[in-house]
Amino acid sequence: MEQLLQQIEQYKKEIASIVPDGADALEAYRIRFLGTKGIVKGLFGEMKSVPGDQKKEFGQILNEFKQLAEARYEDWKNSLGTGASGNAASIDLSLPADTLPLGTHHPITLVRDQIVRIFGRLGFSVAEGPEIEDDWHNFTALNLPENHPARDMQDTFYINQNPDWLLRTHTSSVQARTMESQKPPIRIICPGRVYRNETISARAHCFFHQTEGLYIDENVSFADLKQTLYFFVQQMFGKDVKVRFRPSYFPFTEPSAEMDISCLICGGSGCSVCKHTGWVEILGSGMVHPKLLENFGIDPNKYTGFAFGMGVERICQLKYRVNDLRLYSQNDVRFLRQFTGAV
Ligand code: DAH
Repeated sequence: MEQLLQQIEQYKKEIASIVPDGADALEAYRIRFLGTKGIVKGLFGEMKSVPGDQKKEFGQILNEFKQLAEARYEDWKNSLGTGASGNAASIDLSLPADTLPLGTHHPITLVRDQIVRIFGRLGFSVAEGPEIEDDWHNFTALNLPENHPARDMQDTFYINQNPDWLLRTHTSSVQARTMESQKPPIRIICPGRVYRNETISARAHCFFHQTEGLYIDENVSFADLKQTLYFFVQQMFGKDVKVRFRPSYFPFTEPSAEMDISCLICGGSGCSVCKHTGWVEILGSGMVHPKLLENFGIDPNKYTGFAFGMGVERICQLKYRVNDLRLYSQNDVRFLRQFTGAV
């Protein structure tokens, strides 16, 4: 043990005599004293050769030595951070700051803003609602009572504390909230994030974005619905894109229709995006069901309305020709950087 103590004394002197130098010297010090094969580890390894009754004393000395070596390292490291000489006065405060790279808008944000702008020109204003919704606004008020089979297509995530709360499955819940709080005429566009209990793949995700539209006034007709959506498609995709309506079913509209546009990827000749049909569905729509108007105290004999809902990712996919939905939420700047200026 005597010999070991002498060695420790030697090392202490060595540490005390060090003149702190740059980062390389510091790293060499760290490896020599504190590294996995360094001096401190090595001395702890010698513990087994120390006689039992001296182990305690030796252990204490060794711990003190370890703390000394570590403290020296920390001081040295800190002094490097305050300028080459370790002197705070040497910092030149007049130097310009490092430039920070500018971020870009996310493609979903760009497309969402464009949708809002197009409908804004027709007099629609933005309305928003909570992402954690209650059953009434997301389902029941929209004619989707408990056990309605259409709920199956919108399985979602429920909140443990209260079985009545869920993550909204569509922005149609904002329709419900607006009809609840405003009197007609109502003309709103509701962008927002929605959730579904789906396995994540190139074609589905557990969250995505929608934009809902709602127009209620006297004498609103299906012709108004069609003309509004034609205008939107032309503004978004250009004049050459073809549009078709297919009869469909939504509990909150009657009659209901889905709207397709000619596939922008293949120009209508058929590809994997349009599943070889030449058409891609972009939204659901219809005339607001009279039951909904009644639910919110709006007289269905006086007022009529139309509504529609579209997936923002779908519009984005068609606009930018990006097929894999997962890319939008992976946060890879190499992907995200490509879109600003492209709209
Ligand atoms: N909420 C529907 C969905 O998520 C989309 C939709 C269809 C909204 C028709 C509407 C509508 O307002 O009228 O699938």
